[in-house]
Amino acid sequence: MNAIELLKEDHNKVSRLFQKVKATEESKHKKLFEKIKEELDVHTHIEETIFYPKLKEHKELEDITLEGIEEHHQAKIFLRELFNLSDDSEKFEPKLKVLMEDITHHVQEEEGEMFPKVKKVFDEATLHELGKQMEKEKQSFKKSQTANAGK
Ligand SMILES: [Fe+2]
Ligand SMILES: [Fe+2]
Repeated sequence: MNAIELLKEDHNKVSRLFQKVKATEESKHKKLFEKIKEELDVHTHIEETIFYPKLKEHKELEDITLEGIEEHHQAKIFLRELFNLSDDSEKFEPKLKVLMEDITHHVQEEEGEMFPKVKKVFDEATLHELGKQMEKEKQSFKKSQTANAGK
């Protein structure tokens, strides 16, 4: 799978979870949020450690990549805040809603602006190699998460 296909697959997974949040009652949202956080943690990690640094080497991809990094930064603050909220907090639902709106916007920018530019700059072989690297990093990140959770 090439890098773009892999990242789009992640995006789709997250967007399906967002649809579930919208279609279910609030009592189910905490569990869904945990899944959303898990997906976004690994996704932002592989973008930030492998994909974005590669993009930043190219002048024409620099601005959009720097913007992406800032959007990740904001999303992480939200994820942490949501994670730390008490179960009965009235802030949970509105914060989750804003998180979903922000992520949807970020994904639209990646798929609508960033990825088309990336396809122009990198050839198929490079995209494939990047995809392979990210797949590998995904597995080891997940492993380290599970190991930490057991401590
Ligand atoms: Fe991203
Ligand atoms: Fe992404």
